[in-house]
Amino acid sequence: MSASSSAPARDRLRIAIQKSGRLADPARSLLAACGLSWRQSRDKLFCFGESLPVDLLLVRDDDIPGLIADGVCDLGVVGLNELDEQAKARRRAGLADAYQPLRGLGFGQCRLMLAVPDEWDWQGPAQLAGKRIATSYPAILAAWLQEQGVEAQVVELSGSVEIAPKLGTADLICDLVSSGATLAANQLKPVQTLLDSEAVLAGPVHALDDARAGLMAMLLRRLDGLSKVQDRKLLMFSAAEERVDALARLLPDAEPLLRLPAEGGAVRLQTMCNGALSWQRLEELERAGAQELMVLAVEKSLA
Ligand code: PRP
Ligand code: ZN
Repeated sequence: MSASSSAPARDRLRIAIQKSGRLADPARSLLAACGLSWRQSRDKLFCFGESLPVDLLLVRDDDIPGLIADGVCDLGVVGLNELDEQAKARRRAGLADAYQPLRGLGFGQCRLMLAVPDEWDWQGPAQLAGKRIATSYPAILAAWLQEQGVEAQVVELSGSVEIAPKLGTADLICDLVSSGATLAANQLKPVQTLLDSEAVLAGPVHALDDARAGLMAMLLRRLDGLSKVQDRKLLMFSAAEERVDALARLLPDAEPLLRLPAEGGAVRLQTMCNGALSWQRLEELERAGAQELMVLAVEKSLA
């Protein structure tokens, strides 16, 4: 069942996040950085929003798309892999789309990959014909196989996919790879990417029509503000006038240097930089005549 307009109007937004696992802590931190805070409940599955009427539901990540589809939750932080798998499964079952990714969140990066036993000589998808592939992502895998025009057998497993080749229940696997340690430990090697994934904020396909709509818009705007400033650093320093041009040349990836009023001969300068400013880079600037170097992280922005 999907959220319908006959559902009772709600004035609190409900966000589902993973209770424990890779995405749990970053999801909470990100929402906290958006200005949300919660009263921790005793059962720790529901957190009542204090700063804003935005509550958290702590669940298994696999349950998040369904909770959005059923209108139990309005938003969820979930891996694109899980969202895409369940969306494809719905479509195969003839069901209408019920959720969509709204924003990539920049953490939880991983890939859904085919991995084969180390001793295989991988020559491409055609080699998969007639093979058994173990996976927890049967819909994505089936769609990919179809795209490739390859007929292989999809063996659906809910966990411990990586030991299937050793147990003889499959010839190869299709699973998430992050560091690659799990594959290596099971004498498997990744050979083909099916999906690049990261954590996303997922939401309904239809706009909400009560007080939650405004809360959702505000949250999205704050998220955008955070992602805009995430890698931005304000660099401040002073220098003698005749060194300014040389210093500017050492900062090709920064915005044009802004001069601030200063006393005496030195010029006060500042600029916004994208990405990290390493110690090495600061020392290089210092050798070129920059003094009193200071790097400030940007915390919020409503540009
Ligand atoms: C994935 C995958 C592997 C592991 C790979 O599980 O199923 O077990 O991560 O990571 P590695 O390449 O760093 O070794 P995940 O932690 O995402 O849990 P879930 O699939 O059960 O949600
Ligand atoms: Zn999971």
